[in-house]
This record gives sequence, structure tokens and C-alpha cells, in this order.
Amino acid sequence: MRACRREPVEHTPVWFMRQAGRALPEYRKAREGMPMLTSCTIPELVAEITLQPVRRYGVDAAIFFSDIVLPLKAIGLGLEIKPGVGPVIEQPVRTEADLGRLRVPDPGELSFIAEAVRILTAELGPTPLIGFGGAPFTLASYLIEGGPSRNYEQTKAMMYGAPDLFDALLDRLADITAAFLRVQLGAGASAVQLFDSWAGALAPADYRRHVMPASAKVLGAVAGFGAPRIHFGVGTGELLALMGAAGADVVGVDWRVPLDEAARRVGPGKALQGNLDPSVVFAPWDAVEAATRRVLHDAAGLDGHVFNLGHGVAPQTNPDVLTRIVELVHEASS
Ligand code: CP3
Repeated sequence: MRACRREPVEHTPVWFMRQAGRALPEYRKAREGMPMLTSCTIPELVAEITLQPVRRYGVDAAIFFSDIVLPLKAIGLGLEIKPGVGPVIEQPVRTEADLGRLRVPDPGELSFIAEAVRILTAELGPTPLIGFGGAPFTLASYLIEGGPSRNYEQTKAMMYGAPDLFDALLDRLADITAAFLRVQLGAGASAVQLFDSWAGALAPADYRRHVMPASAKVLGAVAGFGAPRIHFGVGTGELLALMGAAGADVVGVDWRVPLDEAARRVGPGKALQGNLDPSVVFAPWDAVEAATRRVLHDAAGLDGHVFNLGHGVAPQTNPDVLTRIVELVHEASS
């Protein structure tokens, strides 16, 4: 939390996106036979899966085990997460009438989230819990396409062809994600990360006009909690300044832009998070060590740095390599 606030730290803190999940055998065991989104509704199980990587890797923060589409499931939308595929939507959202099916969940419909957060903050003690939500554009891409996409053809067809409908959809999704984040923060989460994983598909002018207002609405809606707000996307080198300006305290950077250059793009007054290439872990340790030291070196002049991967942990990652990275970051930065 101090690094997020650009205050002095005794060593660079580290956590990993997708640390709670498939790289861990204890996770696969805990989840056995249970659909992903069902597991997210059982507070004790959510707490156990969230704690597993903290125990195993010695990371400095937990990230809440859930999914960006969970609030959409909670309002009764037909969707599931297909293993190896991602979120799949029964009836894609492409018309005004479809938009009518999207409503903001009441806190009561997310009470199992609040319960899991309360269990976790009690168990974690001083270790922060990072809550999260999906940014409007990334959620819209799943809803419009009906599932994962490479080029976002339908999403862009709506953005360019029916901009009023697109903007209204993103605005509704902003309210839905804000409700999801408020429940987590209200129950005790220390920080939140807004995942705009697929915003890198957009040119800056389109991001600024159609996406930034909705993401700014989400970040603004939770500003009052005083908890650091992290804003992250993949392939967003050209969008870093805009993503910071949308209201983030910390800008997440993928592995394509070195952190010193990212800091120039983002400008003063924000911490940075990142950005080891998540595929480096498949190389021999010497290469992993050099790449990790490189990230720390690039970040040396920043006044706030949270070490992370440039995107999520890949499922085939050897967990022991992540443990060694945590040790190295702590040791080399202290
Ligand atoms: O980061 C964490 O460890 C916390 C939990 C978390 C999950 N999803 C659990 C999960 C978080 C923060 C997310 C966010 C999420 N979900 C994002 C944004 C982050 C990113 O990676 O860009 C996105 C795009 C989604 C949508 C989603 N859910 C995808 C693309 C997938 C992967 C599908 C696959 O199997 O390849 C999921 C499923 C999912 N979410 C899993 C986990 C642990 C895997 C479920 C399984 O074990 O099968």
C-alpha cells in the first residue's frame, strides 16, 4: 500500500496477476469437479484459494479469487467460463433490447463476495487484499462478441456503427463494475485493480472518446474509499497516459514498455506496477534472474513501484520459479 501511495518502502513489494489459480496443484485440487463461477460463490472456498498463493509464494498481497464476469452472472445473465476458452455468453448483447437485460446488482446479490472478503481480511492480518473488477470495454467485448475474440470485429462494428448504443452499454457496465468494487472495498479490501485487459486493441482517439469516460466513472465511483486504484491493460503502451488520467493511482504496465519509459508516458504523481514478461519463467533461471533484475533496474528511479508480471501467470508455470522471483525481488530491492 505504501508503494501504491509512492511512500518509502523497505523493499519493492510483489504480487502476481492470476497468482490464485491454475499453476497451483492445491488450487486444482480445491476446485475439482466444480465449475469456475460456482466456486466463486462459496466464501470459504474463495478464501482458501485466495490464500494459497500467499502461503506458497510469500507475495506481499493477496488478490481476491473471483472473475470479472461474476457480477454479470449474479444478475442472472446466461454465461459460463469454459476451461481453456474463457467467458462464453449465451445470448450476446447487440441491441437496445439486449442492453435492457443488464441491470446493476444490489449489494444483497453480492453478499457472498462481502462474506469472502470479511473472512480474508481477518485471516490476512497486515497483508493487503486487492479487490478487482473488469473495465467496461473488456466486459463489453465479451458481451458483444459472445466470448473471447482476437480482433473484436463485432465490438468495433458497434463502436463505429452504433456509437450511442455502445456508449450506453459501457456506461451501464461502469455502474455494474462499480457496484462489484464497492462491495469488496466496503467489506475491507485494501486496494482495487480495474482490469481493462483488451483495451490495447483500441487506437488512443477511440479509447479517449468511447472508453475512457466509462472507466473514469468506475474509478471515480470508488475514489471515496481512499484505497489505491490500479488500472491495467495488455498492449496499452500507447494508452498509458490516458489510463492514468482516467483516475488511477497506479498504472499497470505490460512487458512491452520498459518502466522508465512508461513513467515518462504516464507523467508524475502515479506509481507503476509491472512488468516481467510472464513467459520468461519458461527460460533457465539465469535468464529469469537477469530479466527480473532488469525490471528492478528500469524502475529504480520511480517513486512508487509494485513488482508484477506484465500479464497473468500462465497455467504451465512452475510455481517454484515464482517463489524464487519473490525472494529475488525482496533481496535485490532492499
Ligand atoms: O488474478 C487472480 O489470481 C485472481 C482471480 C482472477 C480470475 N480472473 C480467476 C480465474 C482474476 C483477477 C480474473 C480476471 C479476469 N478474468 C480477467 C482480467 C485479467 C486478465 O487475465 O487479463 C479476464 C480477461 C477474465 C476472463 C477469464 N476468466 C479468462 C480469459 C479466463 C481463462 C480461461 C482459460 O481457462 O484459459 C477465465 C477463467 C479464470 N478466471 C480462471 C481463474 C483462476 C481459470 C479457471 C480454471 O481453473 O479453469
